[in-house]
Amino acid sequence: MKKVVSFLILFSIVLVFAELPQTYISLTEPAKYYSLSKLLDGRMSTRNFSNKPLTLTDVSTLLWSADGITASGKHRTIPSAGALHPLEIYIHISNVKDVKPGVYRYSREKNAIELISDGDKRQEIIGNAVRQEWIKEASALILITSVKSKTESKYKERSGKFVYLEGGAAMQNVYLMAESLGLGTCAVGSFDEVKIKKIFSLKDNEEPIILMPIGSI
Ligand SMILES: Cc1cc2nc3c(=O)[nH]c(=O)nc-3n(C[C@H](O)[C@H](O)[C@H](O)COP(=O)(O)O)c2cc1C
Repeated sequence: MKKVVSFLILFSIVLVFAELPQTYISLTEPAKYYSLSKLLDGRMSTRNFSNKPLTLTDVSTLLWSADGITASGKHRTIPSAGALHPLEIYIHISNVKDVKPGVYRYSREKNAIELISDGDKRQEIIGNAVRQEWIKEASALILITSVKSKTESKYKERSGKFVYLEGGAAMQNVYLMAESLGLGTCAVGSFDEVKIKKIFSLKDNEEPIILMPIGSI
């Protein structure tokens, strides 16, 4: 009997920890309660941030807004040509409460971020890849990428236009969600693509589209 009880306790512990691999951090539920006109009216690019840390709910809500799964379970927060969904979303975290600094990939299906590489890489990003000093004040950096081959299989030469349209939709969602959360962001398109690909460990067929530093204001 004692052996059975010990086995059951051990089995429950294994089940609790076996839900997600250890490289994943489960996200909280995204906050979904703001009105659009007010957000559009307030939208602007912000390049000055305070050092107040972001929360995991801020991260969850921003990533979900970029290209997350909607309540239907079948759609995303952005439209996609042929529903082929070529975008991937990454986040470099340097100042988020209870999350260690590093590069993470957004897993929309798991509502989690997967650790790709740990350590604060701001100096590397600013020194080598972006060369815009104000970025170092941001608590996080969202990177929107695309795997064009997903769209190309159906749309051939139109796929380039389509993936950038989708990237733009994701970018605008992040601007508006940052506004709704009382945070600041600014699109950054001026960067060394090869270096950003290396820092974020992107695949060969994956292209970085836009970086979005985020911070408290
Ligand atoms: C595709 C794109 C790339 C951009 N790249 C940069 C950039 O590298 N650095 C920067 O400071 N702002 C960048 N911006 C922000 C623009 O400068 C900003 O949107 C513009 O000045 C209008 O200001 P507003 O967004 O506050 O209305 C970019 C914006 C877009 C849409």
